[in-house]
Amino acid sequence: MALRVDATLLIRKIRDLRSLTFRRYRVKEKWAASRPKHPPTSLAQQHFDVTYNTQLGQLWPSVRVALLSERKYGALLNHFCNDAFVEDLHSQGCTDFITGTDREVRAGLECDSEFEVEKRDDVVQQQSSLPHLSPNIKCFVFPRGDITRFKPARPDMSGLLSYYLMDAASVLPCLALDVHEGHNVLDLCAAPGGKTLALLQTQAIGFLCLNDASVSRTLRLRKVLHSYIPKQLLSQERLRITSFDGTKWAGIEPNTYDRVLVDVPCTTDRHSLMEDDNNIFTKSRTGERRQLPQLQLGLLLAGVVAACPGGEIVYSTCTLSHIQNVGVVEQAIYLAQENHGIQLQVVDLRPFTHMFRNTFHFASDLHLGEMVVPHLAANFGPIYMCKLRRLT
Ligand SMILES: C[S@@+](CC[C@H](N)C(=O)[O-])C[C@H]1O[C@@H](n2cnc3c(N)ncnc32)[C@H](O)[C@@H]1O
Repeated sequence: MALRVDATLLIRKIRDLRSLTFRRYRVKEKWAASRPKHPPTSLAQQHFDVTYNTQLGQLWPSVRVALLSERKYGALLNHFCNDAFVEDLHSQGCTDFITGTDREVRAGLECDSEFEVEKRDDVVQQQSSLPHLSPNIKCFVFPRGDITRFKPARPDMSGLLSYYLMDAASVLPCLALDVHEGHNVLDLCAAPGGKTLALLQTQAIGFLCLNDASVSRTLRLRKVLHSYIPKQLLSQERLRITSFDGTKWAGIEPNTYDRVLVDVPCTTDRHSLMEDDNNIFTKSRTGERRQLPQLQLGLLLAGVVAACPGGEIVYSTCTLSHIQNVGVVEQAIYLAQENHGIQLQVVDLRPFTHMFRNTFHFASDLHLGEMVVPHLAANFGPIYMCKLRRLT
């Protein structure tokens, strides 16, 4: 009863307040005829609540909160930009998570060896088994728990931008690809080009083929490249940009590339939860969404066939979905053997991700591949990656 009285009082008070507000300042809620009854973001939320509750169990509520909170970015440093913005980034309080981590791990091993001489052989062995990281890929992040935003990148004298803002975890598949001097590289789904820029920073690629099935997104990719890469490098014969259906690549260029990046379209979980625009959970795109695993499998298999024997392939997504991640890789390994006689080896990325454990949260229980899981203190990802080596 007391509660009902309080509620009545409250309503009366709100009415009084409304009568004090000028009519033209009153906000009347409107329902546009075009507003969907079930916006795609809430459909995505319902879908993820069901599937990820089962998949992630107790972890899901905290991952969900992180996904619905402001994400963190990384600033991929552009080596082709003439002005040194590194000092500027340092003065803002951020550091390059790649160089920093690499140095720390190697220094840690050397430090151990000073105290226990007999363990030196061990250390040499451990050092040689440490994953090779391109010294030229640099990505700045703010410390854990710090959600400061980066300022927009500034252009140098020739108009090239100093850094590219992207999810710092997106750099990991490019690092894992481990491009060496003179390698032929295929980026099968390249637009809008964040990972392409990271690959180009290695300055080691012999020939780079960039492909994306979407013509409009390929145009965006070209624009990004023109904002970050000097013209003379873009016009060289060492770079090719195409707009083909990547699933058909096996028929175009089999057994060709040393490294293949297959960064497939997926349910883009973070985007689907936050943005109604261009959302794969829109009712009219249900069919497309359901076909995603099939498309991802076709793209990964095409990437595998495009790699040369001994070549390496990195498959990546920005979803937590087991079906789109581990499920696709498992099927690809089986079908590569069955349909193409190609034997694949899964490359263990644990030593690699271990190096970055202070920057990202990694899923602990995946039997295939590695995944950056969003966390409030380090709100990057989701990014899944799995590295495969062609044995035949
Ligand atoms: C996750 S995005 C790639 C992001 C990009 N790698 C980056 O880092 O900026 C996936 C891309 O796959 C492209 N795509 C979709 N279907 C494709 C297909 N059949 N062949 C090639 N690309 C495709 C989409 O147009 C989209 O740009």
